[in-house]
Amino acid sequence: QKGGYPSFMAKEIHEQATAVADTLLGRIVEGRLQLDEMSIDEAVLRTVDKIVVVACGTAANAGNVAKYAIEHWTRIPVEVELAHEFRYRDPVVNEKTLVVAISQSGETMDTLMAMRHAKEQGAKVVALCNTRGATIPREADAALYLHVGPEIAVASTKAYLGQITASYLLGLYLAQVRGNLFADEVAAIMADLEQIPAHVQTVLDGSAQIEELAREMKDATSVLFLGRHVGYPTALEGALKLKEIAYIHAEGFAAGELKHGPIALVEEGQPVFVIVPSPGGRDSLHSKVVSNIQEVRARGARTLVIAEEGDTVVEPYADVIMRVPATRTLFAPLLTVIPLQIFSCELATAKGLDVDQPRNLAKSVTVE
Ligand code: F6R
Repeated sequence: QKGGYPSFMAKEIHEQATAVADTLLGRIVEGRLQLDEMSIDEAVLRTVDKIVVVACGTAANAGNVAKYAIEHWTRIPVEVELAHEFRYRDPVVNEKTLVVAISQSGETMDTLMAMRHAKEQGAKVVALCNTRGATIPREADAALYLHVGPEIAVASTKAYLGQITASYLLGLYLAQVRGNLFADEVAAIMADLEQIPAHVQTVLDGSAQIEELAREMKDATSVLFLGRHVGYPTALEGALKLKEIAYIHAEGFAAGELKHGPIALVEEGQPVFVIVPSPGGRDSLHSKVVSNIQEVRARGARTLVIAEEGDTVVEPYADVIMRVPATRTLFAPLLTVIPLQIFSCELATAKGLDVDQPRNLAKSVTVE
């Protein structure tokens, strides 16, 4: 059942190349993006002036990645709201708001209630879900399924990649419908997206290095994660994975926040993962993160750096360097999170913990 892996989580991590390919399957037809399930009228989509993503946990981290991509491509402002915070305030939502409910299970009570609240205010809702026929996709105005197959482990991995991929499709679709991008621009972006499954496989093929690091660090009591731009939600997700399955205190930060407080935590030997953006992207982003690595290292941190192939600039400052293939900045979260998933999974396994059934957690949170 576990296909030779020690846990469902390990199996699901190693299924992620297929997972991304399956989310894309049938949605790119001759280079054109086709979303047959997008049953919300194009005329309505053209009136949208705000997008609100509602989600919890890992799905909210996927929403935070989506924000960067959807805003960039569509120029529609995107807010990402934890579903339970959204529903208990008095959120500004109306007929021009498109709500994106992200949920692997499609049954998370807080996400469902947030979505219902938004619908009552006249908003249209599109659900990004994995479980066919679940309540959230049934009640939404449109549902985009992830098609990543059942996720058994409590900690979400392949659904996270599916959620991010589906949100890219949604963003590109909106940009296409609203005329923000020309057809050939969408086609060029999609062509790069179609390369991602092969790149995911490349990262997975390098898992031995990360597993060794995890085993060596099994007695760690605190781990920090830093990232900027789309690396920031990746840092949050890396920290969440480590907390939930390895029971290690972990925090993710926007690297720019370091000097506003978190750097005080850094002392001799503190492990700090840093997600480095592509040096081929916006220059300032890469050099800012390199400075952040130098800052924490100067204070004694052990720097565990995730960087693109060929990025030699980071080498002098990295105690450990994990490589991912080069891709568009916006697509990097599909690759850079994988070493973090492998790290948590292997570390928890080395501690002898039940990786698939972490204490106190349920796969689907159907209570408020
Ligand atoms: C973390 C994890 C949870 C879920 C969250 C939302 O690994 O699995 O944080 O992401 O409970 O669940 P769904 O996506 O089913 O709404």
